[in-house]
Amino acid sequence: MSDYYGELQPHHDRARQVGWRDRYHQAVRFEAVLDAVGPVSSVVDLGCGLADLSRYVDARDVSWRYLGVELSADLAARAYKPERVVCADYLRDASSIAEAARARLGSVEWVTAVGAMVSGVDLRSDRTRRAHLAGLCRLAARLSRGGKGWVLSIIDQQALLRRPMLAAEGALGGATTHELEAVARLLGAEVSLTPLFGVELIAVFRHQQGGTTRSDPVRRWVTQALSHPWAIDAAPIDRAWLWYRAGDVETARSWLERADPSARARLLADALGR
Ligand SMILES: C[S@@+](CC[C@H](N)C(=O)[O-])C[C@H]1O[C@@H](n2cnc3c(N)ncnc32)[C@H](O)[C@@H]1O
Repeated sequence: MSDYYGELQPHHDRARQVGWRDRYHQAVRFEAVLDAVGPVSSVVDLGCGLADLSRYVDARDVSWRYLGVELSADLAARAYKPERVVCADYLRDASSIAEAARARLGSVEWVTAVGAMVSGVDLRSDRTRRAHLAGLCRLAARLSRGGKGWVLSIIDQQALLRRPMLAAEGALGGATTHELEAVARLLGAEVSLTPLFGVELIAVFRHQQGGTTRSDPVRRWVTQALSHPWAIDAAPIDRAWLWYRAGDVETARSWLERADPSARARLLADALGR
């Protein structure tokens, strides 16, 4: 295990400490999860980091019974409401995690895993990466059996391989759409996939058919994320970058026009080709 998360700890932004660009990008992933899970649920959050997903939903009109599972003892101890977090490895400690979920939540409706395959373990070998994905999904399926299913926010491995700078970072590894579909078949679930930020996928696995597909989900997630109390201080340049990464160039341009001059603003202006 590398010290991937140790190196991120000096950041004052909690989202940066667990590897995200900022809390607005983190919030979009949380909105994607909320969209699938709904406001009332019992949730096990694998690879929960600082349990910010539960902090995020607590600030909305959402009532979840929540259990976070985190590999890093340091992150688990500093997590939001640490009494709702257990320090465990979702690959090695499946039985004790299942026991903790039973004891604390009774039944589990949904399992979530937001960026959870990023652990500092080198995932550049396909064999290691696929074994990790299979282990994560096997546990998610086991915990949510009798409930609804599981949601992953995961790196899109095909998109990653098209970006040599990202692909060279051993800690980054995800799954291809084919691998996610194969895992779903193996575990008797149905999966729906939505691309996010050009290099990620939101994968919703359901034990039974159903679930509604609404149009333009990414626009809705970004709009919701930016109307959450966390985004109250989002500057025009933060909003512009978020819309750009979500693929909405026009909205990105209109926020950029309101942004103060800065290096980030110049970078985005270049990316937008003006
Ligand atoms: C990118 S961070 C995301 C944290 C959190 N889900 C969020 O979105 O704020 C991924 C987290 O998964 C945890 N993790 C990775 N592999 C794990 C494993 N095998 N068992 C438990 N946690 C793991 C890491 O320690 C890290 O905190």
